[in-house]
Amino acid sequence: MPSEKSIFLPNPDMARDCYVNSLKQYKEMYKKSIDNPEEFWGEISRDFHWETPIDFNRFFRYNFDITKGPVFTKWLDGATTNISYNLLDRNVQNGNGNKIAFYWEGNHPSNQKSITYAELLGEVCRFANVLKSKNVQKGDRVAVYMPMILEAIVTMLACTRIGAIHSLVFAGFSSDSFAERITDCKARVLVTADGAWRGEKLIKLKTICNQAMDICQQKGHTVDTCIVVSHLQRSVTPASAPKYETPMRDCRDIWWHDIVPKASTKCQPEWMDAEDPLFMLYTSGSTGKPKGVLHTTGGYLLYAATTFKYVFDYKPQDVYWCTADIGWITGHTYVVYGPLANAATSVIYEGTPFYPGNDRLWEIVDKYKVNQFYTAPTAIRALMKFGDDIVKKHDLSSLRILGSVGEPINPEAWLWYYKLIGKEKCSIVDTFWQTETGGHVLTPLPGVTPMKPGAASFPFFGVQPVLLDECGKEIKGEGEGYLVFSRPWPGLMRTLFNNHDRYETTYFSKFPGYYCTGDGARRDSDGYLWVTGRVDDMLNVSGHLMSTAEVESLLTEHKSVSEAAVVSKPHPIKGECLYCFITITEDAVYNDKLLTELKQLIRERIGPFAQPDVIQNAPALPKTRSGKIMRRILRKIAQNDKDIGDISTLADGGVVDLLFKTRPANA
Ligand code: WT7
Repeated sequence: MPSEKSIFLPNPDMARDCYVNSLKQYKEMYKKSIDNPEEFWGEISRDFHWETPIDFNRFFRYNFDITKGPVFTKWLDGATTNISYNLLDRNVQNGNGNKIAFYWEGNHPSNQKSITYAELLGEVCRFANVLKSKNVQKGDRVAVYMPMILEAIVTMLACTRIGAIHSLVFAGFSSDSFAERITDCKARVLVTADGAWRGEKLIKLKTICNQAMDICQQKGHTVDTCIVVSHLQRSVTPASAPKYETPMRDCRDIWWHDIVPKASTKCQPEWMDAEDPLFMLYTSGSTGKPKGVLHTTGGYLLYAATTFKYVFDYKPQDVYWCTADIGWITGHTYVVYGPLANAATSVIYEGTPFYPGNDRLWEIVDKYKVNQFYTAPTAIRALMKFGDDIVKKHDLSSLRILGSVGEPINPEAWLWYYKLIGKEKCSIVDTFWQTETGGHVLTPLPGVTPMKPGAASFPFFGVQPVLLDECGKEIKGEGEGYLVFSRPWPGLMRTLFNNHDRYETTYFSKFPGYYCTGDGARRDSDGYLWVTGRVDDMLNVSGHLMSTAEVESLLTEHKSVSEAAVVSKPHPIKGECLYCFITITEDAVYNDKLLTELKQLIRERIGPFAQPDVIQNAPALPKTRSGKIMRRILRKIAQNDKDIGDISTLADGGVVDLLFKTRPANA
């Protein structure tokens, strides 16, 4: 296995043609981005259209007052622009009107479509006009629960055209989770599809939306318009497909095809201040309630565009593919905004990596001659186990850059990706970032950074990482600590929707003057940064971030559970999985029925991806004398690691032995 000492040098043939083609150039550009951010970002901003030009004096004076810490981030305020204009109109004017913006690949291999920049502009304007006709105005939130189809992208950009804030929720979340998010942001309009196939499984999106809208209603919030794309009838369905009657309700629900084709393909963009909200996206918080991360217009545009350009070294003829769902931030920044800002041609894929065969991703790379491929370690690990032969069936020689995102990538998966998929000639970019950061913050650059398997390496332009110890003292040189950032960059979120206090306490209060990621990291003797994982009570299952508190409070909602503690356990494919300890009430029994009910509860209330792997019966939990659950010890029990260290603060040592002895068979 490679270690920290293993270094893989970038392919020299490739380096020559990259935008940044030497470490020296990276260092110079980086230095400029830190010493003179106004000039660095100012030059980049000239590639885009600003209806009211940037006032560089103001930009200079106000936006780098880092004495207050990044809490007060503002970029380019006073300048006005429109994102959809920059992504579409500007590209059409630049001669890219007939260029393919997206190749859409359906769940079934015979379902495919493509759309050019000019066509996308027309569709976006149409839908923007529809939203306007439904009285959606600047600043209003629009809830979106969509499969991976072109209308999802049209919806996002139509919102930005008129200044509405889109709020996408990954269509794997349950109706409860969705309802909680709709009520929080008070969206009156919801856009969805009737359903979608994932492999041979039908996802009844509209049914879930109906349940969610009912729950909203009970909580006193009404969604008055629900626009539904009829997607199933144009999808090739598995032979065994059951019949699904889309439940539509008069007055509230409208079919997309009944209104959109009639709308005009022209729509004047709403000129937005650079600091006006662009979109919001919920992410898990360690106290359970999701946080509505809010991104704004000007800075996000620059940051999405710039990271995409350099990290994927996108050239005009390239075909790029990011496998992320648009319901996550990766889908926002690196399926929609970053690629379109660079007039890129991308692939989007609706289905799963396993349908109709376990080589579907490689088949698609081959079919579209993909040059940049961006996916998550959990997918790589899941595909590794099918062996090398099904990979070798396909011509993957078009690949130049391979990306990884969502969690630390283990060296074994990295090597497989590098050798078998990249044929040892591609650069791997292990991109560390978060919903909150808007775009990549730590990443190697292709063709330039010597690669270490598992290291997110170095900061992107404008980003200044710092490692701090528990007392907030900076760790210089080698060492491990809290990963924080000491200055803002254009893509950093600006607030949590309607909750600026929580924004400050969550991200800026632990270490004043720094943005705190919640992750730990280590700096090695070569200065490489290795992200080691969350240092808070969050866990990352297959790249889905969730909080232990969220799952615990659900478990205790069950009448048979009096107390619950949830920890993460390493998992060979998912990265981490949920290991739950439950104390049941006196009259309850711990049996399969209870376990099934608890798993079902979590699937229904959060989503299928959150289902726990293990639920252990715990007559008592290890606690400190002051009553605090010692999760550190529970993590050891979950891993069956008897080396539990100091337990002197434990109130009752016997509990630990008992829990080790009674670990369930599937643990
Ligand atoms: C958390 C953010 C950003 C896109 C997807 C997830 C973990 C993300 C890496 C990486 C190690 C990573 C961190 C981070 N993470 N990328 N390359 N190496 N860890 O977005 O849901 O906001 O999750 O994902 O723990 O804090 P998110």
